Amino acid sequence: MEYPWKRREFLKAGTAFGAAWAAKPGGFFPSTTPPGGQAGSCKAVASGNGIRATEKAMALLKEGADPLEAAIAGVNIVEDDPEDMSVGYGGLPNEDGEVELDASVMHGPTHASGAVAALKHIKNPSQVAKLVMERTNHCLLVGEGALKFALAYGFVKENLLTDRAREAWLRWKENLSDRDNWLPPASKTLPPELQAYVRTYGTINGLALDEKGNLAGVTTTSGLSWKRAGRVGDSPIIGAGLYVDNDIGAAGSTGFGEANILNVASFQVVLFMGQGMSPEQACLEALKRVADKAKRHPRLTGPDGRPNFGMNYYALNKKGEFGSASMTGPSSYAVHDGAKNALREAAYLFKR
Ligand code: GLY
Repeated sequence: MEYPWKRREFLKAGTAFGAAWAAKPGGFFPSTTPPGGQAGSCKAVASGNGIRATEKAMALLKEGADPLEAAIAGVNIVEDDPEDMSVGYGGLPNEDGEVELDASVMHGPTHASGAVAALKHIKNPSQVAKLVMERTNHCLLVGEGALKFALAYGFVKENLLTDRAREAWLRWKENLSDRDNWLPPASKTLPPELQAYVRTYGTINGLALDEKGNLAGVTTTSGLSWKRAGRVGDSPIIGAGLYVDNDIGAAGSTGFGEANILNVASFQVVLFMGQGMSPEQACLEALKRVADKAKRHPRLTGPDGRPNFGMNYYALNKKGEFGSASMTGPSSYAVHDGAKNALREAAYLFKR
């Protein structure tokens, strides 16, 4: 099926949205797959590493599960998977070689949220975040306090650092400086499966809509690899890594957390959907603002004036329409539209 808007029409749509940005080299690139979806049915949306999450979430939604339970059960698969080194068990550690996890959840019908940050030893921080929402009158618990809380509710302390993640960290540590007491790595070549993890801020975001039109979302991550101990990214910050307004829609993000926090951009995506933008347009508009603001920070801008970091937004509105956009594309995101579970092409601001 052809994407219903031609590029020219897309650029024309909305004066505030199109005009200024379209004039810039690079412009933006709408997805060529239909971002919409059949209204009135369950939907599950996730970042590109979440195709198993959307499958699981949809199965639960079809059984009548609450959308937050469905979204969390989906991302738990990735939190438990040591092969995904950006989330949960097997996630890349901080600069001291310790895995610290961040997560948030937001439940549309009750407009409630919960989050944990810099949580060690518990591989499903999304479940702890849900308990923060349900069993405390707080929104965010961090570090030792978050761990104490999780243990009180029966979570089990585990070593989350896999050999693979430890080797990647060790490689970074040994290459860091020639003025310390770490000798260079014995082998110059990094195993190919670790090359993508030299420095990363991978994350999973999951959004769900049930048959009654109720929305929920979850974002969970091991955060920026080799971060300073105690660094908290955007994932557990409501409004930044995740936001849900049950009257409008849900949005979440993956990418460089600091730039996202500075723009509270998941909240912006929901706000833009509330103003009538499609989910994809809303994601692009938020990215445009993130890119514009990044220009004020030379360290966040490449020689071409573009942001030198990755950023991705995912959005799902109350009608069941969905979309995603990335700072640099092409890239993909996962959607179960009630009939089919597939990776779809996201829109993007800049071509890779
Ligand atoms: N978005 C993940 C992080 O920056 O921690």
